[in-house]
Formats: sequence, structure tokens, C-alpha cells
Amino acid sequence: MEWSVNRESDKPIYQQIFEYIEEKIAYGEFPPGSRLPSERKMAEQLNVNRMTIVHVYDELQASGLVERKKGSGTRVSTHKWGILPKGVTNWRKYIEGGSFLPTYPLIKRIRDEAKVMKDGYNMAGGELSTDLFPASFLQASFNQHAFPSNLGYVHPQGHLEFRETLASYVKEYHDINVTSSSILITSGAQQALYLITQCLLNPGDAVAIEAPSYSYSLPLFQSAGLRIFALPVDAEGINPDDIVTLYRKHQIRMIFLNPTFQSPTGGVMTEPRRERVLEIAAELGIPIVEDDPVSLLSFDGKTHYPLKSIDKSGNVLYVGSLSKVIASSLRVGWIMGPESVINRLADARQQIDFGLSIFPQLIANQFIQSPEYPKHLAFLKQELLERRNEMVLALNEYLGDKVEFSVPKGGLFCWCKIKQKVDDQKLVEEAIKNKILFMPGSVYGSPNGYVRFTYARLQREAIKEAVLKFAKVLDKV
Ligand SMILES: Cc1ncc(COP(=O)(O)O)c(C=O)c1O
Repeated sequence: MEWSVNRESDKPIYQQIFEYIEEKIAYGEFPPGSRLPSERKMAEQLNVNRMTIVHVYDELQASGLVERKKGSGTRVSTHKWGILPKGVTNWRKYIEGGSFLPTYPLIKRIRDEAKVMKDGYNMAGGELSTDLFPASFLQASFNQHAFPSNLGYVHPQGHLEFRETLASYVKEYHDINVTSSSILITSGAQQALYLITQCLLNPGDAVAIEAPSYSYSLPLFQSAGLRIFALPVDAEGINPDDIVTLYRKHQIRMIFLNPTFQSPTGGVMTEPRRERVLEIAAELGIPIVEDDPVSLLSFDGKTHYPLKSIDKSGNVLYVGSLSKVIASSLRVGWIMGPESVINRLADARQQIDFGLSIFPQLIANQFIQSPEYPKHLAFLKQELLERRNEMVLALNEYLGDKVEFSVPKGGLFCWCKIKQKVDDQKLVEEAIKNKILFMPGSVYGSPNGYVRFTYARLQREAIKEAVLKFAKVLDKV
């Protein structure tokens, strides 16, 4: 919930909440007949005592704004303001209809909890902790940049100067050869995946994704009506021969891969397999979408070049992002691929939102060219390495006989298999009670009993405590 009580105000807290709900009802944001959150939920969302909400709901009832019936909770009155139920829009029908599927309940549960949880341990979200964002460098970049005089719509592929900078950036860091006209700037890698699934595929098309994989957690594949088939991931990545099997059986039309420091497993596809995957995809004429948000975060000095850098057939659509190396709120990502594909996607982009705002592009453009950027990357890798080490120590110390894991050589995550039988839902709920958040493997398409811990979000000192608390939670379920 965006709104919060003002604890400095002279107005009593219950009065503030009463007026807030009254306004929502008056503006139709809580329509007649809709159910208000339970007292407990509302108290949690607003971070107030449950009795305060009991008082507010009593007052709302006394003023006729809500009706309360045993078993059906607190609903906005349908008689108030002269609105009759039959003249009321049934928003539920719309909310539950539409082509965009809602987030999976277990992920939503964890995200909602992350918003309200105070003094807990968040090992769920795949992002950096605030002290790892280069805020002062970004501020300096912003200050140095002359405010653009042209504030008209940006080119739908993205700001030209930034695309040119990005072309040099991917050459330097990833050995990818591309020109500005083959780049589309997106609102993060997420939008890149959305555009690809919506514009290049049709409902009923079969696609192959890694299992487990980040893509499983995205209902956008189902929203696009795609049929999803799994390419199991082992210690060396996917097995290239599985592509052939899936192609023969299901005529798969696209392959989604995250070959370097894969989410959630943290694994890296070996070079021979990368070459073979490219050969097979070219032979069968199947495009590959390579999702590569974290390959720069390698801890052992080894550079993992993307598939795109060795793709000779123009078969790879390369998706990148600055979310995990600079800041997720910048919302800067990209797709690099054949110009005809980029033009098609840019045209769709024009219809959706006319392209990304100029400002994040200017900031990113300035920062990735500055001498501060490599320093920031070095700092980030060192910090993440220390946090990874701390997590590995804690896992060995507190969960040594209960989980199996491989030490991640880069990225943000540690993937663990729990040896005992567990139910993911129960484990998540028990962990939430103990103020621990993590991602259960089932949301990535794994069987129950796997967990993804993010070590990037917690301070180094907190990692040990978080793992210890998780070990206690595991003892209870
Ligand atoms: C593998 C992977 N791809 C894509 C994304 C989307 O990132 P963004 O849209 O912030 O660039 C994420 C975010 O967690 C991710 O882990």
C-alpha cells in the first residue's frame, strides 16, 4: 500500500485511516460491494495495531459506509450515495478476465510481505542492497549532463547516442558486434521478454525454456498463450540434444536461455554446450533469446562471453539490462538482434508507450562511459563475493547436513536442495512468521524442496543470522 499514516500529525491515527478509506469509497476506488481487506491484513499493510482497524471499521459501519456480515467480511455499502447494486460495474468480472494473467499466488505472497516486513531478512528479491547502488556516481552523472533541449518523443528504439554507447559497451564487455540500428532500448529485460513473446510469437506456439528457470516465474509466457516445454538444466547448463527432441515432438519455435549465472541455479553453461546449442538452433532455424543480466558479475576473473558473441547466423536475440549491475529502478534494458526484428519490436513499442523516457538513458549513457563505471563494477563484484562467502560459510555451519548446493562463481544467488521432504508453501509461511523471505524452487518449475537465496540484498553481517533463522524454520516444518 502506497499510503501510510502520518505519525507526526496531531490527527489521531484511526481518524486518518477512516478518512483515507472514506475517500477511496467516495472516489470509487473501493467500489460499492467490494470487500475491504480483513482487519489483520489492513493492520499489517498500514503497520498499525489491529485494534485501531477494528475501531475504524466500527466507525465506517456506524456511518453507513460499510456493511459487515459474519463470514463475508467488511464490504463497501451498496446503498450509500444512492448507488444501487444493479447499476454498479462488476469490476471483478473485468479483473478476473482480460488476457494478462496475475502473478502466481506464492510469489505475490512473498512480494506483498517484502513490502510490509520490517526488521526481517529478505533473501527473496533478485536485486542489490541499497548500499550497492552507485547513487553518488549517478547523481554526479546527472549533474554533469546538460539538460536536453529537445524534450520531444525519443526515437522508439531509444536515444541514438545511448545506443551508440551501448554498441561500444557490449563490444568491450561481451565481445558482441552490433550497431546502433540493431538495438532496442527497453524498460528492463522484463519488457524485452514481454515484447518478444507478444510480437514474435502466436498463441499456441511452443517454446522451450530452461527448467528450472526465471521464465517459469513469469506468467507472461502463459498470458501470450504459449505452450511451454522444459529443457532440464544440469551442472553444465541445458543438454543441446534436448532441443532436437523437443523440436521433433512439438515443433518449438523459440528457445529462452539464461546461460551465465542462471537464475535460479547460478550455473554457467559450458563452452562446448554453447557452441552445440548454436549449431543446433541454426540447423533447425530456431531463434534463441539469450537473457544475460548478470554475466559481468563473475567472481573468479573468468569472462563468460554470451552466445551472441559467437553467433554467426544472427539467430540470437540478446537481452541485457543494467538492473543488476547499476540499479533496478533505472529500468534500462535492451534487445540486440537483426535490424528487421528490432524495427518490428520498436513499432510495437511505439504503440505501447512511445519508448523509454530520455532521462534514464542519459544517466546510463553518461555513467557507463565514465571512468567510475569500471571502479563501481570492481567494488560490486568484491562486495558480492564477500557476501557469497559469508552465505557459503553460514550454509555449511548451520545447514551443512540438511542442504546440498554448489558454490556460485558469480551473480546474486545461491541455489540449495533441501535433503528432507518439505512443502514449499508451508516452508514459505513458516519463514514469513519468522521474518525470513526466500524464493521457493517451485516458482521456477522445480519440485518442492529447493530454495533460491539472494545474498546480494542483505548486509554481510546479516547473512549469518538469516541462514541460522532459516535453519530453525526448517527444523519446524
Ligand atoms: C534472469 C532474469 N531476467 C530478467 C530479469 C528482469 O530484469 P529487469 O527487467 O529488471 O532488467 C530478471 C530480474 O530479476 C532476471 O533475474
